[in-house]
Amino acid sequence: MVASVREQIAAIQAEFKSRPEGLVRHVQRVLVEALDLADRYDLDCDRVTLAAWGHDLFRSFAPDQQIRLATEAGLSIEAADRADPVLLHGPIAAVTLRQRFGVIDDEALSAVRDHTLGAAHMPMIAKVILLADKFEKRKRDRTPVMKEIRRLAWRDLDMALLCWADWKWIEEREHGWQSHPAHWQARTTWVAEHHAELAMQLGEDPPTGS
Ligand SMILES: [Fe+2]
Ligand SMILES: [Fe+2]
Repeated sequence: MVASVREQIAAIQAEFKSRPEGLVRHVQRVLVEALDLADRYDLDCDRVTLAAWGHDLFRSFAPDQQIRLATEAGLSIEAADRADPVLLHGPIAAVTLRQRFGVIDDEALSAVRDHTLGAAHMPMIAKVILLADKFEKRKRDRTPVMKEIRRLAWRDLDMALLCWADWKWIEEREHGWQSHPAHWQARTTWVAEHHAELAMQLGEDPPTGS
């Protein structure tokens, strides 16, 4: 028998009994933000709750476990993932939620998979989970610019994502970190779409190439 979304959520919550307390509290804070945005954008609360509880199911696993689980799940592992295996926790969770918890909601699964790096084209629920994950209370207290991104998300999710990507880009350059290719591809698309939208508003032809 196929489990209902609420049963899937309960099963994931039960799994969190073996996870660190700090991670559980983070997920609870993400859920608060995600449900706030779900209300604003008229999204289904159960689907958002499912994605919020699922997103960090493997966040606390050690790097060698991330590599092992990703390999077992048949995920492609980039050099950037090997350098920082925690980046695999979303994709691992998405595969596990489908295979072990019976989640068939593709949009919720993509929210889980892409919550760390983003993706070129994301359903609303994925945008909400990514942003909620970045500006939950503890993170915005630590990184005040997240308060601005949170405010922006209330009126424009795409603009908030773009601003988060800009902040991330500056962070990575300042620290001499490489941008993950998957994130860079997403960011490039977001920037191009933003410019195309601006051009349309101005009645110009959208920019081509490069
Ligand atoms: Fe995460
Ligand atoms: Fe998270």
